[in-house]
Formats: sequence, structure tokens, C-alpha cells
Amino acid sequence: MRPKTAAIVVLLSISLAQSEEDPILKQKFEEHGLVPDVIGKAPGRLVKVYYGENGTLQPGEVLPQDQIQGEPEKVSWEADPDELYTLIMTDIDAPSKENRSDGDEKRWLVVNIPGYGLAEGEVRSPYEPPQPAAGTGLHRFIFLVYKQSQTLNSTDEDPEPETTTGESETSTPWTINDFARVNELGDPIAGNFFRVEGMATEE
Ligand SMILES: *[C@@H]1O[C@H](CO)[C@@H](O)[C@H](O)[C@H]1NC(C)=O
Ligand SMILES: *[C@@H]1O[C@H](CO)[C@@H](O)[C@H](O)[C@H]1NC(C)=O
Ligand SMILES: *[C@@H]1O[C@H](CO)[C@@H](O)[C@H](O)[C@H]1NC(C)=O
Repeated sequence: MRPKTAAIVVLLSISLAQSEEDPILKQKFEEHGLVPDVIGKAPGRLVKVYYGENGTLQPGEVLPQDQIQGEPEKVSWEADPDELYTLIMTDIDAPSKENRSDGDEKRWLVVNIPGYGLAEGEVRSPYEPPQPAAGTGLHRFIFLVYKQSQTLNSTDEDPEPETTTGESETSTPWTINDFARVNELGDPIAGNFFRVEGMATEE
């Protein structure tokens, strides 16, 4: 056995031992309609998200807006240090859960993340705190992590919807699935989500 093959076998057995699918995550994704609204199948593993001192985000948790204004202190998932990953956070309920016609509103997008090193990734869209409009109910904000098959280069493969001024919207809304398809990301390997109630911005 060549040394490299031996190393792969060891890695595989470690990841098999660790990669039991998370049954609660699957149940929560289905219970809250993320399957099938956003993806066809729940990711097997949890993206661990730490907002401040209040610990790990529990899938589906309802969070007060003031607790999520800043980027999470830590985001992690079971990663292979030799692989590259994409992290996406979006509001999937724009303008509301009943009317998702605005597509997935991108709130954070980091690509080419090596292994565990989120800080080493390339930020395509900086973190934007969730601020659902008043009266639009609970919005679901989803975190998804994809394993990349290659380096994603900065190109127009990541088309942004045109900024509109309330007039005719001709551009197609951005969606996670389009982004994943264009960039050949496959299915997400890990996920998590929280919910935030739309409310008026405090003056
Ligand atoms: C932690 O949770 C408490 C109670 O919900 C909240 O008042 C506080 O702001 C939170 N702290 C952080 C850092 O998020
Ligand atoms: C859904 O929201 C869009 C604006 O984001 C609006 O133009 C459209 O009329 C809404 N559709 C319904 C059925 O409310
Ligand atoms: C991006 O560029 C790298 C280096 O030139 C190349 O290996 C990779 O295949 C490119 N990725 C895509 C998606 O074209």
C-alpha cells in the first residue's frame, strides 16, 4: 500500500465514524419546509454557528434581531483540511414565507474556504444582518456549506440581481440552487437555520 493510499484509508474511516447523519437536523429541515422549498434533501451534518456568548445555534431557533447583528463569532463544520468549501447564508423568505418571489436574499457568501479556515476564504458578499420587514412574519435564514470540486474564480457566474428602485424587475432573482448549479457544487454537505420575526427598525 502506498503511503498516500494508507492515509486516505485512515481519513475515510475517521470520517465514516464521525459522519453519522444528524436526525434532528433532517427532521427540522422537513418540519420547517426547507425541504423541499430550498433543497431536495436535508444535509447530513450540522453547521455549527456561534452567535456571541449564547452558545450554538439550534436548528430552527427563533432569534431576536439584536442578537444577530454581528457576524457569528465562529462557524464550523466537519471539514477535510485539503478540500475547499463554500458557505452561504440567505433569507429564503423574501418578501415573506408565503411569497418567496424575491428569490433567496443573499446575506453572506464566502467561497474557496480551505478546510476549517473560514477566515482564509474569499468573501464574495460580506455578512449582512437579518432585517426582515415589519409585518412579514417569521423569516427562515439558512446556512449551507458545499464542498467544492475546484477553485471558484471570480467571474460573472455569480450574477447579482440588479438593484431596483421599485420599477420593473427584469433580472432573475438570485437563488442558492442556481449558484450551486452554475458552480457545480452538488448538494450541500452541512446546514443549519434560524428564524427571525420581521419588525420595524428602531429609530
Ligand atoms: C444572550 O442571550 C440573552 C438572552 O436572550 C441576550 O439578552 C443577550 O444579548 C445575548 N448575548 C449575546 C452576546 O448574544
Ligand atoms: C410577492 O411579492 C412581490 C414583491 O416582492 C410582489 O410584487 C407580488 O405582488 C407579491 N405577490 C403576492 C401574491 O402577494
Ligand atoms: C479557477 O482557476 C484555477 C487556476 O487557474 C483552475 O484550476 C480552476 O479550474 C478554475 N475554476 C473554474 C471553476 O474554472
